[in-house]
Amino acid sequence: MTRIAVVGCGYVGGVSAACFAELGHSVECIDINTERIALYRTGKSPIHEPGLEELLARGISSGRLTFRDCYPEFIDAEIVFIAVNTPGSSEGAADLRAVRDAVTSVAARLAPGSIIVNKSTVPIGTGDLVEGMARRVNAERISVVSNPEFLREGSAVADFMRPDRIVLGSNDPSAVERVARLYSSLEAPVVQVDIRTAEMIKYASNAFLATKISFINEIAAICEALGADVTEVARGMGMDDRIGPRFLAAGLGWGGSCFPKDVRALSHMASVHGTHPQLLRSVIDINNGQRLRVVGRLRNALDGLDSKRILILGAAFKSDTDDIRNSPALELANLLALEGASVAIADPVVSRIRIEQESTSVNVVDSVTEGLSGAHAVVLATDWPEYLAFDFASARTSMALPVFFDARNAMDGDRLNASGFTYMCIGRPASEATVPQVAMTPAVYALAGGS
Ligand code: UGA
Repeated sequence: MTRIAVVGCGYVGGVSAACFAELGHSVECIDINTERIALYRTGKSPIHEPGLEELLARGISSGRLTFRDCYPEFIDAEIVFIAVNTPGSSEGAADLRAVRDAVTSVAARLAPGSIIVNKSTVPIGTGDLVEGMARRVNAERISVVSNPEFLREGSAVADFMRPDRIVLGSNDPSAVERVARLYSSLEAPVVQVDIRTAEMIKYASNAFLATKISFINEIAAICEALGADVTEVARGMGMDDRIGPRFLAAGLGWGGSCFPKDVRALSHMASVHGTHPQLLRSVIDINNGQRLRVVGRLRNALDGLDSKRILILGAAFKSDTDDIRNSPALELANLLALEGASVAIADPVVSRIRIEQESTSVNVVDSVTEGLSGAHAVVLATDWPEYLAFDFASARTSMALPVFFDARNAMDGDRLNASGFTYMCIGRPASEATVPQVAMTPAVYALAGGS
């Protein structure tokens, strides 16, 4: 058992703290947000994260998990994880104020030989900065390790317990060994590198995953034009071990608190340092275009969007989370509202007040049935299981027009077509009747290399 402290108990810190306690370590969580800490103390999670409350309950009752809403005079921990947020500015640069504050507060309260571990996603070079700050505040030797997280919201507990790899970057091999020991029961490979490389692994991983999604979204658009089915294309591609099947689901594009911020930050860092991140810029462009393509297709299907009533299913940036930061669903809602549509939105876990705070142009409804009544179109933006299981066939007659846009390619299109809907989806024929007849004209044939 190692004595750990975790500073910043949001999505990353809260999950990591509860998981470390589950692994048998003694964990003190520190967060200056008093409401959040008060909630944690009762065993409740401030975020919707499957499995987290069970771990909180076990950690609290075993005494291994404790919470504080201010720094103690002395932090009684061998290893302190910094997991505060690093919001992105409009230019893409990461705001490091919370990291700086946390490091200054922590370094002054640590015993010699302690380790500060950075888990927040920070610009390359921040680890060196943290090391310098820690040494200035506390003359005693404090080591710094970068340990980026790869947790997905909605499956963060499972991801923590079954990691593909543990990345540890440091100039101090003994510190790396001590941090690696915290994870030893997970039996994951440890990638030991220098601090900057560890920081880059995190950005490059998120940027690559975002690239995979933008790639399949671009292929989806080409499939639409040529009459191929992107879901089958992804399946066929994914069977190649070198490609892999994951993150090839075409849809509304990527969102959330990580990909948009991290891809922009990496692109910004590259530009500032004189390189030309043209692929990253295209990845971002394709992603922005993905929402616009859906707006355009709805505009055509509804013969204009002005005064049309549209129900969007799901406000979160994906299912199994209540996070609406950079949500593609809300971005789509705002774009539709800008063209005069009257947009209603439903979500099974995100509260009405949070959606209203984020977007003033949507009307939050309490049920799918309420939102469908009088609607001209319904858009599946987030593939919550309750939406996939909903009986749309019975509710269809209450709609003004039965257009169903499946922006997650998650519904049974044939069934919806058979029950009277006009089914639309991303990158695949909505029905046999809509397969574009692409003639191999002499020009197309020649371009394709025919003679
Ligand atoms: C992402 C990474 O997957 C994690 O490894 C990383 O730790 C995390 O960011 C982070 O940096 O903290 P997360 O943002 O929780 O995790 O969500 P993902 O499951 O990666 O999904 C991101 C977005 O891509 C969502 O909007 C999702 O709907 C979309 N997506 C994902 C697709 O459109 N298609 C796919 O095939 C997969």
